[in-house]
Amino acid sequence: MIRVYNLTYTYEKGRSPAVKGLNLEIDEGEYIAIIGPNGCGKTTLIRHFNALLIPSVGEVQVAELNTRDSKSLLEIRRRVGMAFQNADNQIVGMSVEEDVAFGPGNLGLPAAEVRRRVDQALEMVGLTGLQTHSPHTLSGGQKQLLALAGLLAMEPKIIVLDEPTASLDPEGKKKVLTLLKTLNLQGIGIIHVTHSMEEAALASRILVMNQGEVVADGSPGDILRRVEWLKSLGLAPPQITELMWQLQQRGEDVGTSIFTVDAAVEEISNLLERLKSARKA
Ligand SMILES: Nc1ncnc2c1ncn2[C@@H]1O[C@H](COP(=O)(O)OP(=O)(O)OP(=O)(O)O)[C@@H](O)[C@H]1O
Ligand SMILES: [Mg+2]
Repeated sequence: MIRVYNLTYTYEKGRSPAVKGLNLEIDEGEYIAIIGPNGCGKTTLIRHFNALLIPSVGEVQVAELNTRDSKSLLEIRRRVGMAFQNADNQIVGMSVEEDVAFGPGNLGLPAAEVRRRVDQALEMVGLTGLQTHSPHTLSGGQKQLLALAGLLAMEPKIIVLDEPTASLDPEGKKKVLTLLKTLNLQGIGIIHVTHSMEEAALASRILVMNQGEVVADGSPGDILRRVEWLKSLGLAPPQITELMWQLQQRGEDVGTSIFTVDAAVEEISNLLERLKSARKA
């Protein structure tokens, strides 16, 4: 779905590139998290996915359309929707429904089709009933859901999110993350830039970036258990993984590819059982 060939991007001549020599293939329907320290190039990379940035060197293709080709721009932006950290800046309508209708309205669709898409998108994000409300009366979490509804009304193949939960309270975060999972189960690809390893663990593939390069690409199991390596990059592994790692360092026989509370409870119960039977024997 998205192919990146030898992508290098430099913001200003003479400065070192923000991303360099990247090669990447992203298939339809994948759920990818991108993590990495501040300034490593995450935002720069994803802005290439819907042609907000055009490579200094190399190529980016979306569904075989080259982002350099200005004739493909509209088609690329229909396929790849982009959401940012600050949902306030993404509000364009006076009411919730007007806001969601903005994108599909610009596609020149018949009014009935726009209506259908708006209702469907609001239903998907759980904002049905708020159609006539002013977006500015919504909570931070609801504004982010509204921004996502606006993207969904374009019926994209992939949604790219740049730290969408960074300014949300825990409840807002949870709603957005649950929605991402639901959308992915419906076949929409998700690319989620995050500083939270707990959030990254929800993806099926994690890309780790450092200094403009992708330095690891694998499943959450592969990536998050590399506790010491993540820390050396300045990234905090999930607390659960850290706990299991500490137990392992103390000589306990536990796995470290564990990043949910449920899995940790199971692993620790098993450990306690083993310790109990060892004591009896
Ligand atoms: N508009 C810009 N003009 C000049 N340099 C920029 C611009 N945006 C980013 N950079 C530089 O490019 C590099 C990569 O930045 P980028 O924003 O892609 O990193 P990031 O991984 O998204 O960081 P963060 O985690 O802080 O969001 C950094 O050195 C940054 O200072
Ligand atoms: Mg960024």
